[in-house]
Formats: sequence, structure tokens, C-alpha cells
Amino acid sequence: MLTIEGLYKTYGKQMAVDGLSLHIPKGELFGFVGPNGAGKTTTIRIVCGLLKETGGRVLIDGKELAKEPDAVKRCIGYVPDFFGVYDNFKVSEYMEFYGSLYGISGEECERLTTDLLALVNLSEKREEYVDSLSRGMKQRLCVARALLHDPALLILDEPSSGLDPRARVEMKELLMNLNSMGKTIVISSHILSELSEMCTSIGIMDHGRLVAVGKIDDILNGGQSSEQTREKQIAVLEVSREHHEDAVTRLRQFTDFSIESVMENKIEIGYEGDEVRLNELMMEIMKQGVILSGFYQKRENLEVKFMQLTGSGEDTEHEA
Ligand SMILES: Nc1ncnc2c1ncn2[C@@H]1O[C@H](COP(=O)(O)OP(=O)(O)OP(=O)(O)O)[C@@H](O)[C@H]1O
Ligand SMILES: [Mg+2]
Repeated sequence: MLTIEGLYKTYGKQMAVDGLSLHIPKGELFGFVGPNGAGKTTTIRIVCGLLKETGGRVLIDGKELAKEPDAVKRCIGYVPDFFGVYDNFKVSEYMEFYGSLYGISGEECERLTTDLLALVNLSEKREEYVDSLSRGMKQRLCVARALLHDPALLILDEPSSGLDPRARVEMKELLMNLNSMGKTIVISSHILSELSEMCTSIGIMDHGRLVAVGKIDDILNGGQSSEQTREKQIAVLEVSREHHEDAVTRLRQFTDFSIESVMENKIEIGYEGDEVRLNELMMEIMKQGVILSGFYQKRENLEVKFMQLTGSGEDTEHEA
């Protein structure tokens, strides 16, 4: 769907996007994550044809933005990070205005407005002034207007910033709903936990570069690379109170893993290897008479991984 090849953007001496390459397949709900100034907005504005790149190319469905700008722009619905001021517009007029920019008018625009306002849950606000809407409602209105020309790709720049928790959930549900209806969606954010709940894959950006890209689970696990599996992994063994003491005693006799911490009904062990290795260890542990009520691999939380990858965190210890 969206392909970015070797994209560069400089503002004077400032490098905002530094050789970014990325492919987002059709049907993805892709999260673009990065700290302030990482280059997310710059990248998005280039992809939407609002800013000229310094180098590299953007292709949508194989069509190059620089060569067929109008055709490419028609495939995109863009929700900017900053919502303008619309003093004298009612919601219906706002939709009409944006419809006219795409050559949609009259009954067709009316019908689309009805459908889209229903989709973003703003039907009863149709005759209200845009400026009287809450921030969350304005954001949803922005999504509705970005869908007027039925773009295959919807790009949203920080759609949740400034929203309260309830409005965030509504936005998340709306995007997941649109994705299930077949829209490919790209969303930027620096709120990772939110992205991890809705996105099918993410790209982590820092200083204009992609430092990690893929499925969230793969990023958390460090992908399949053998280098990563040589790092110490932590597994959590769940043990009932009655078997706890016995389990600790037996586990201390093993040499192929270390006991990292002992809690009331959990024991954490450190080992090297992948999930297959973890399963082998568990078989061995149970063979030796340790009674477990469950076990799982402990995952570093996303924020910690993010801090490590973007080099913006001082504390790179494992999650608490
Ligand atoms: N119009 C501009 N003129 C000069 N420098 C700019 C301009 N726009 C962005 N930059 C610089 O480019 C870099 C990337 O900015 P960008 O807005 O793309 O980041 P971002 O990831 O969207 O950040 P945020 O999370 O704060 O929205 C920053 O260093 C910023 O200072
Ligand atoms: Mg931005």
C-alpha cells in the first residue's frame, strides 16, 4: 500500500528525516512512534504531498507521489495534528466545504455526511458550530471529513493528543472499526501503550530514522535474531502457597538457570534461549517434582523497549 524509499528531509542544517525506508502492506493499522522531534509529522506531511522531500520517494499502490501527485493524494485521507479554527462553520457546512474540494456536492455530499457523522458518532451535532464541539468531537469530525473521498489509506498525526481517557478510547475504537472495514491506517503517537493495543504493527522512529519496525510482539522479543536469544530472558513461574517452599528448594538445585526473584506466589528465573528452550526447561523442572500452577515468559514492557531503542531513557533496567 504505502512504500517509502530512502526518504530525506532537511530544514537548513537540521536533518528531520534521515534515509527512511518503510513498507506498509494493505490492511495494516500501523503505528508510527517516536519522541518529540523524531520526524513523524515531517514524514506524514511529505507522504500526504504537503511538504517537499529533500530526497527519496513515496509510492502508494505502486504510483509515485512525485509523478502522479493528484492520483496519489486521492488515495489518502489526512487528519493533521493541529485542528484549525472554524468560527462560522456548522458541522454540516464543514463537511460540505471539504466535499467540494474533492468535487463531491449536493445529494451525494448530504448522504455521505449522514453516513460519516453516524460512523464517528456525531449525528446529533450536524447543525452545531464546529467551534462548539469538544476536542474529541473535533478529532472525530476531522476523521469523518478525511473519509469523504473514500481513501484507501487514512493517515492520522497524533489523533489522541489532548484527549481525555474516554475520548481516547472512542478514537481507538473508531480506528479499529475503520481498519476492520478495510481501511489501511497509519497513526502517529508517542503514547505507546495505546498503539500496542490497537496497531497490527509499529515503526519506532528516532532522529529521523526507523530504529525498529514490525509486529509489536516481535519488537518486544527483539525479533527472531539469535543475538537476542542469547540475552538473558526472564520466565515467571506461578506456584501455589503450599508448594512454594518446596519449589524454591528444588529450583535452587538447577544449574541451567538462575533464580532472579522469589515472591509470594511467583518465582522468576533467568535463562538463555528462546521459547522452545523455555518449554524444555519447564518440562525438566516439572519432571524434578516442582509443582507449578503456570508459567510465562516475562516481556519487557513497551515503554522500556522504546526508551532503549530511542536512546532517550536513562533507566534501561527491566520492568518493575
Ligand atoms: N518548519 C520547520 N522548520 C525547521 N525545522 C523543522 C520544521 N518542522 C520540523 N522541524 C524540525 O524537524 C525535526 C522533526 O520534527 P517533526 O515535527 O517532524 O517531529 P515529530 O516526530 O512530529 O515530533 P512531535 O512528537 O513533537 O510532533 C525536529 O527537529 C524539528 O525541530
Ligand atoms: Mg509531530
